Amino acid sequence: MLDWTQLEQSCNNCTKCNLHKTRHHMVFGKGDINTNLMFIGEGPGEQEDLTGVPFVGKSGQLFDKILNAINISRDEIYIANIVKCRPPNNRNPLESEKKACLPYLRYQVQLIHPKIIVCLGRVAAQCIIDKNFKITKEHGIWVTRKGYHLIATYHPSALLRDPSKKRDAWEDFKKIKSKYIEVS
Ligand code: URA
Repeated sequence: MLDWTQLEQSCNNCTKCNLHKTRHHMVFGKGDINTNLMFIGEGPGEQEDLTGVPFVGKSGQLFDKILNAINISRDEIYIANIVKCRPPNNRNPLESEKKACLPYLRYQVQLIHPKIIVCLGRVAAQCIIDKNFKITKEHGIWVTRKGYHLIATYHPSALLRDPSKKRDAWEDFKKIKSKYIEVS
């Protein structure tokens, strides 16, 4: 079993898929590794690739606003992505890239052992909850698996593209806050 530092080291040295060829930084994840609340996005965008930090670009700023509104700080959660290196031009990660990268995320989940895992967007939900997950129909619905409380909501970038989804996302985040209080 690798410890946290060794795991981050292997991700830094990873060449399992072609994304390593174009990355500036591998984006491991950030936050409190003793948290009960973990968020999982899709993959780094341009700003994340440049800084090595998840959710710092436009969608990250919206994510911060939402967290703020439910009185949760970034320091008390952990946030990571399905793939740790930026897909060129922000395309969706390929099946092969997700498959190569997922063991690292699984390892992080095992080490953090959060009580709640929130998938941000369809790509994360289809990897973590169900391969046929329909984000418009199934967001905001709790699933319990292996003792983890799983839920998905819209990715902040989807909310930026279509602000009419914000109302539903807000309901999801209120549920997430209640569950977080319940399990803490
Ligand atoms: N979008 C994601 O899914 N993850 C990030 O880290 C940034 C944007």
